[in-house]
Amino acid sequence: MITTILVVLVILYFVRKIYTEIASSSNPLAAGEHLRDATIVQGKFTPKTLAKYNGRDSDRIFISVKNRVYDVTQGAAFYGPGGPYENFAGRDASRGLALNSFDPAVLTPLDQPIDDLKNLSKIELESLESWDEHFENRYKIVGTLHENGTVKEEDEKSL
Ligand code: HEM
Repeated sequence: MITTILVVLVILYFVRKIYTEIASSSNPLAAGEHLRDATIVQGKFTPKTLAKYNGRDSDRIFISVKNRVYDVTQGAAFYGPGGPYENFAGRDASRGLALNSFDPAVLTPLDQPIDDLKNLSKIELESLESWDEHFENRYKIVGTLHENGTVKEEDEKSL
């Protein structure tokens, strides 16, 4: 019994260590020079135009949280192809973050209206708030999310 508990604790320790290493190697603040040099322009996205910033079709990775679009490229180890949260890349991650779920089924299909999040519980909204703070502290906002068909092409982002 004691051995089992020890094994579990050792596993948890290493999982935590690996994640912390990924997080620090992808910390945009640690890569300050690079971020300062990057030209960040505010842009308007729709679910469909955001989708291409998924780390496969574009080098940059963007995700939307509460209709603000973050450049999470520095967190490619999390959101890039094969990363634990790749489902969020190029997508509105709000509901997934609120529900603490990276199940792709939680994401709104690209051709549907933007999720208004109205049916979230208080606890789910609090979870979303704290994730939003996490993203604000860690990543640059590069634009906002708008309904499909409402953004003129010249307003769209071209990075
Ligand atoms: C097996 C369960 C899970 C473990 C062990 C785990 C572990 C971790 C760890 C250790 C971090 C790094 C925290 C830090 O930077 O200090 C992290 C970040 C994160 N996790 Fe999880 N997590 C789990 C489940 C989830 C789920 C279900 C979600 C779905 C919303 C999620 C979303 C995230 C996000 C969005 C980040 C932030 C990445 C960033 O900073 O860009 N995690 N996770």
